[in-house]
Amino acid sequence: MTATFAELWAEIAPIGRDDKGGYLRYALSEPELILRDWFRNQAARRDMPVTEDGNGNLFAWWGRPWAEGTVLTGSHFDSVPHGGGFDGPLGIVSAFLAIDVMRDRGLRPGRPIAVAAFVEEEGGRFGVPCLGSRLLTGVIDPDRAAALRDAGGVSFADALGGRPAGALPVLHRVSAVVELHIEQGKALCDRDAPVGVASAIWPHGRWRMDFAGDGDHAGTTRMADRHDPMLTFAYTVLAANKEARLAGAHATVARVAVEPNATNAIPSLVRGWLDARAADVPTLDALVETIVKRAVERAGKDGTRLDVEPESVSPEVTFDASLAARLAGLLGGAPILATGAGHDAGVLSAYVPTAMLFVRNPSGVSHSPAEHAPEADCVAGVEALAKVLGELTS
Ligand code: GLV
Ligand code: MN
Ligand code: MN
Repeated sequence: MTATFAELWAEIAPIGRDDKGGYLRYALSEPELILRDWFRNQAARRDMPVTEDGNGNLFAWWGRPWAEGTVLTGSHFDSVPHGGGFDGPLGIVSAFLAIDVMRDRGLRPGRPIAVAAFVEEEGGRFGVPCLGSRLLTGVIDPDRAAALRDAGGVSFADALGGRPAGALPVLHRVSAVVELHIEQGKALCDRDAPVGVASAIWPHGRWRMDFAGDGDHAGTTRMADRHDPMLTFAYTVLAANKEARLAGAHATVARVAVEPNATNAIPSLVRGWLDARAADVPTLDALVETIVKRAVERAGKDGTRLDVEPESVSPEVTFDASLAARLAGLLGGAPILATGAGHDAGVLSAYVPTAMLFVRNPSGVSHSPAEHAPEADCVAGVEALAKVLGELTS
């Protein structure tokens, strides 16, 4: 069967879309479950059996599941809250279409190809990004993953229907991984190229910061008597921004929860999440250390308390350089670029030769409803992926 990119994209476009054109596709929530059904249907239309790994990851197979030399492609369906529709699904849609292209050309791969849909890549529901790939590689303890809870108190185990299985014993049979993804920057625009190849991912992580103080009445508590954690939090947000600029790194505080969250009550607790990223681990470590030091100093002045908990920390990823060069050559000299965004391919790269293809994003915007890749570039991405899968399975 041959479907066009526009046809497949139109099928998934309404799923989980909000009234501003963004997407609410939390892992294992209703829209994502609909997308998983869509995945199973696409696989069935192509006579591709689907297997599950007990961690929430799905695999559609062209060839015998987990036979020696398997080449893994695909991406994820989940979005950040109210994020774009391309980050993730583009890699899955393109993988099915690349298989169509290969079949139309009469190609018969010498090894199996699996199209993967990884669960909870964004960490938007349970807090730990790349949860599915961390589980299947054994990077995260299944009991820790099982106990992660979403904002409504539902555990990952409950959402999944049981304790995750953890490390996949057959992973060593995978010979290569290639994930196609929308670019989350403008480097391909600057280079006038529709498709690029990844070289590296910046080390990055998430730290939960609990600022505790004394809840009290906003009207009756004298200013001098307050122990207001919102002040310590506000100072820390500014300090994080300044320190990241000084270090040539990135620091973001974009999520906050306040107790009791009342207009007329001094908060007792402000919980904020720090997302920090840098080109190398020493810079990242030093940045986080400095931000925490400045926050603790400020807490001393405010009479508040600070507790910091790392929720996930990902080391620097250097993708297989010879594979990247080979694929860039195959694609006619495609640019090779680094990124500050995390990916399942980054987690897998510690275990399997791994590559990523990026598709041009004219605005460079991502994790926002404005995220977009033009149809012609998406089609070029499918062609590139078909070429790469042909090469890796020949
Ligand atoms: C995932 O997209 C991340 O980099 O946060
Ligand atoms: Mn993302
Ligand atoms: Mn992604």
